[in-house]
Amino acid sequence: MIPVKPAALAKRVRAELAERYLVALRAQLRKTGPGNGDRAQGLGRAALASGLATLDFARIHDQAVVTLAASRNFANTRGSIARIGYFFAQALIPLEAAHLATRKTNRRLQQRNAMLRAHTAELARGNRRLKREIKRRKAGEETIRQSSQRYQQLFLESQVMHRKLRQLTRQVFSAQEEERKQLSRELHDGVVQTLVGINVELSALLNGPSIDLHNLKAKITRTRRMVAKSVNTVHRFARELRPAVLDDLGLIPALHAYCKNFTARKKIIINLTAFSGVEALDISRRAVIYRVAQEALTNIARHAHATRVSVSLSGAPHAICLEIKDNGRSFSVEKTLRAKTFKRLGLIGMKERVEMVNGVLTIESAPGQGTTVRAAIPFHPAPVQP
Ligand SMILES: Nc1ncnc2c1ncn2[C@@H]1O[C@H](COP(=O)(O)OP(=O)(O)O)[C@@H](O)[C@H]1O
Ligand SMILES: [Mg+2]
Repeated sequence: MIPVKPAALAKRVRAELAERYLVALRAQLRKTGPGNGDRAQGLGRAALASGLATLDFARIHDQAVVTLAASRNFANTRGSIARIGYFFAQALIPLEAAHLATRKTNRRLQQRNAMLRAHTAELARGNRRLKREIKRRKAGEETIRQSSQRYQQLFLESQVMHRKLRQLTRQVFSAQEEERKQLSRELHDGVVQTLVGINVELSALLNGPSIDLHNLKAKITRTRRMVAKSVNTVHRFARELRPAVLDDLGLIPALHAYCKNFTARKKIIINLTAFSGVEALDISRRAVIYRVAQEALTNIARHAHATRVSVSLSGAPHAICLEIKDNGRSFSVEKTLRAKTFKRLGLIGMKERVEMVNGVLTIESAPGQGTTVRAAIPFHPAPVQP
């Protein structure tokens, strides 16, 4: 079989339809009355089925009318014209109906399109909202991540501080223990031994043979010397622990007594200058100044090899300044304070005591210049920061 091209097929279908239309229209003209509507509609449906457009179908109709009009037996009457018109109108009904359906479908499609466009716009809006929300959440997550890192860091720092604190506490306890041991040894060697000596002397006097007045006087003098020595030792202990004079008479007399005793024991000359306004400080602040001076002087005696020291107390508008300066050998303050081991507690203790009353402690030490310890103690605690 020879394959038929679609264009040729369409042409043939059109030609057949034109033929059928001419035959039917001719039959229509032969009859009287309005004519065969069913046949006309059948042709219209056939045109629709073969994909003919209304315009093409109108051409077929025109062609048929021209052919019929050219024939001899064509009666150009009003009736014929009406029948031709009726036939064509009937034939157009299926095509028109199809157009109507197409228009309806189109309208529905357009409505659907509009709805789809609205949905798409709504979806796009939702999408944008979602993107914004994702961005906001990501920023939130980042903040949470950063703060959790910060908390982690703070937690680690606090653990380190906790460990340091425990180490320091242990060190303080062992330093206290060492101090007590020394105190007990000194009490035993210095006071108890002397008291035992006195007792031995007194027992000898009581139980021994009667002695002459001269010997008795000598023994009493020796015993009194021993008593005086014990009294001195006990006094020294009391002064070291907490001088009563600090509470009873004030800071200046307490410092005076301590310096006098220090010079006598260590053979280091101290020049003390004081400002009477210091007594206006409350007792806890005065005690801090006393302890700082005590520790600084102990350090000078132990480490500085100094020959001269100046201790001065002066007044500033809102604070009292204590300065202890020696002419001894210097040391690296930075290194000593930063040292990881807490073997040395004197300097750290001084700093702690001063900072506990919102004061500031500075230590300077330079070769050839000796060491200067300065403490500024405010009269009142610093106002609380809002
Ligand atoms: N006035 C000073 N002159 C020289 N060195 C000092 C002086 N004060 C402190 N030092 C040094 O600082 C170190 C730490 O002092 P401190 O904390 O009081 O501990 P400690 O007196 O028990 O050694 C001392 O060991 C010493 O080397
Ligand atoms: Mg010390």
